[in-house]
Amino acid sequence: MKKKYIAAAGSLLLAAGLLTRCTKTETITETITETVTDTIIQTEIDTLFLDPSLVAEGKEIFRHDTFGDEAFWSGVLHLDKAILGEANGGYGDGVSPATALVVGLKVDAEALPSEVVSAIQAGQVDLEDPATTVELLRLNSVVGVKGNFDDNGDLSSIGITCALCHSTVDDSFADGIGKRLDGYPNRDLNVGVIVSLTDNAQFLADLLHVDEATVRTVLTGWGPGKFNAGLMADGIATKPDGSIAANLLPAAYGLQGVHLATYTGWGDVTYWNAFVANLEMHGQGNFTDARLNDPIQFPIAAENNFGNVTNSPDLITGKLPALQAYQLSLKAPIPPVGSFDAAAAERGKVVFEGVAQCATCHIAPIFTDAGQNLHTAEEIGIDDFEAKRSPTGKYRTTPLRGLWARTQGGFYHDGRFATLAEVIDHYDSHFQLNLSTADKNDLSEYLMSL
Ligand code: HEC
Ligand code: HEC
Repeated sequence: MKKKYIAAAGSLLLAAGLLTRCTKTETITETITETVTDTIIQTEIDTLFLDPSLVAEGKEIFRHDTFGDEAFWSGVLHLDKAILGEANGGYGDGVSPATALVVGLKVDAEALPSEVVSAIQAGQVDLEDPATTVELLRLNSVVGVKGNFDDNGDLSSIGITCALCHSTVDDSFADGIGKRLDGYPNRDLNVGVIVSLTDNAQFLADLLHVDEATVRTVLTGWGPGKFNAGLMADGIATKPDGSIAANLLPAAYGLQGVHLATYTGWGDVTYWNAFVANLEMHGQGNFTDARLNDPIQFPIAAENNFGNVTNSPDLITGKLPALQAYQLSLKAPIPPVGSFDAAAAERGKVVFEGVAQCATCHIAPIFTDAGQNLHTAEEIGIDDFEAKRSPTGKYRTTPLRGLWARTQGGFYHDGRFATLAEVIDHYDSHFQLNLSTADKNDLSEYLMSL
């Protein structure tokens, strides 16, 4: 978003205490050695030399740092006021915990004091009252949403963190309430509906050169677990068939050894972190990418100079090393025992590496290409709409580890294949593999074992 505009609204935001912890000498003092074991293959994921204190710092940032993005989420979109509702000094109905859970927000049970847990269990907490949401924010328990409070104890602003989209909870306390699972995409989260609570959609409308009604239609059309990360760069809201374009929130785990990040390979992990923190979350940092100056491919970015963002103080760049270390420390989760048929998976591995030719691109243990991991739309047999929106013009081979933990919402960048069986059928016909039904089933079990 226009940084000048936001700066005006933004000075309240330096509040977050975390922001001071940005620079740190990256001495590599210890080696984290982890062997990821799954029940059928023993694979040693590349051992990375990560500084444990840098990883710990990155975890704090990933979970709790807003990079000063309150200037956008409150200063421009007024979402703090949408949460409060008219009854509490904001506008509209407010966002009760019940509503928050419906739009996919998650509550970190470990942040709740035992009195609160008991009160919830005893049915003494009003989950229909927006004031309760404010209390949950005060406890810093709403995953990925940070509330700031003034001297009177009133909610003064909110900001978002990486965890909003890239963490979920294990539902161990109740649906939507449990222990944090960082790196798991929150496929319940309806980002568009949350943004559309704003009373200032006009800001986005002006930026995109459309009317406010169009903005609202697009936002509410993304659906759960999806987001259109390129929208603010190219202004493209719909696919050629007129349907609303949005991609699945991807896993932020299992990225060790992976070259390019994002579905279309915009850059490596740390490139993308800077992109997101500045251009999607609208934090206050520095960001450079001359590719965004191209007025043909990226008219919105070029017009607003998104390829040359400068802010002082810079609340992002100093945090990139720690953020990257934390992300690389997030191993893909190991499938629960019994969640797949081990014997079938073992046979499926042979199919994957053999006749089905999957391992020509998805190479163990990273399960993406070693080296350049981009392919044309033609190579994988799909349309090039999304690929063309990226500076690379291609699709990146998705790393497949932890696939079992992100089956909700489907597969491929936009979730076009509802099941793994559909993915396999697609490859079977595209590569003319002539796989037997048994091979296909085994392949599917193998994918669930990764
Ligand atoms: C509003 C939701 C949202 C927030 C907040 C968000 N991301 Fe993402 N993230 C996405 C989406 C959607 C993509 C996929 C973009 C694409 O390829 O089209 C993505 C992609 C990624 C990837 C690439 C994963 C891969 O498969 O290569 C990484 C890494 C990542 N995000 C890290 C972060 C970090 C770190 C933050 C905080 C600075 C963050 N994200 C904040 C939605 C979000
Ligand atoms: C030519 C390289 C290539 C080959 C060969 C290939 N893939 Fe892929 N695979 C890709 C690319 C690129 C994507 C990303 C597509 C997208 O997101 O639209 C992908 C995505 C996937 C996904 C979706 C992952 C997710 O999280 O959405 C699965 C599952 C998958 N491949 C399995 C396989 C299997 C099984 C085979 C063998 C039958 C195979 N792939 C062969 C390149 C390849």
